[in-house]
Amino acid sequence: MMPPNIVRIGHAIFTVTDLARSRHFYVDLLGLNVLHENRDAIYLRGIEDREWTLKLELASSARVRQIGFKVASEADLDALQQLAQDEGLLHRWESEQDRPRMLRVQDHWGIPLAFYFQSQRYPWLLQSFDRHRGAGIQRVDHVNVFTPQVDAMSRWYQKALAFRLTEVSEDKDGRAWGAWLHRKGNVHDIAITNGTGPRMHHFAYWVPDASRISQMCDILAGAHAAAHIERGPGRHGISNAFFLYVRDPDGHRTEYYTADYLTVDPDFEPIRWSVDDPRRQQLWGGIAPKSWFTEGSDVESFDGGVVEQQEPLLGLPAYIK
Ligand SMILES: [Fe+2]
Repeated sequence: MMPPNIVRIGHAIFTVTDLARSRHFYVDLLGLNVLHENRDAIYLRGIEDREWTLKLELASSARVRQIGFKVASEADLDALQQLAQDEGLLHRWESEQDRPRMLRVQDHWGIPLAFYFQSQRYPWLLQSFDRHRGAGIQRVDHVNVFTPQVDAMSRWYQKALAFRLTEVSEDKDGRAWGAWLHRKGNVHDIAITNGTGPRMHHFAYWVPDASRISQMCDILAGAHAAAHIERGPGRHGISNAFFLYVRDPDGHRTEYYTADYLTVDPDFEPIRWSVDDPRRQQLWGGIAPKSWFTEGSDVESFDGGVVEQQEPLLGLPAYIK
């Protein structure tokens, strides 16, 4: 049977503990755009996004409620339901703002996924230059998750969901430490990283160019909010992207990312890195802080609790003390 046709990353839903504080951070400082808002939730998007791509929802604790992927048709949703049933995965039908038919699935590693085809579309803001603010955040790009079982999870995403491997980091025994997998034709829609999991490591947006990342740093500094900058700006070895990582007021990590490369060739060969090579993380030589390897967002289970986490079997890269 053909695997379901997943088109791209679609959205994330973060729960946050103070909606006004989070709105100030994501809208006033970073420059995401409000598509809908009510007393309990805000739906945000980049200037190229024709749909909402990040929902912030008020709750008593900060978690990731779901990570959404767009599929090519309603039939692909039915195929995903069949897959979930065949493999004994927790799943149910739900609906969300603008998305009347969404399949929630918890994967074998506890990651809370959501799949949708139909979504209300809105005019984009790409050429409404007069409405661009902050760093001009353009579109959703990828998610990165922690799991103790990178090898197994990466293999399943390739076999069952037809993701394609673009880059991989490995320890000296050839065990995968991180895997970058795509559907849409750039470096990744999802990255899978060794660590205590399941947790979300970060959720990422594309920005138009590297100058916008410097601008984001200037805006945060000007607002005396530079403590939100966790890592960067810098140039990744893996993906070649220019990047910045920030932590929101609840600790959720987001990345602002640009200038990776095309991966659509059918004979594309994945690029392999040693996990102990610091150039994979930062071509310029800056070492990521330890928090980058150890901290992440809890993910929500189907019953509203937190999915139980397990420690990783593999250690940190040799250059991290
Ligand atoms: Fe990333």
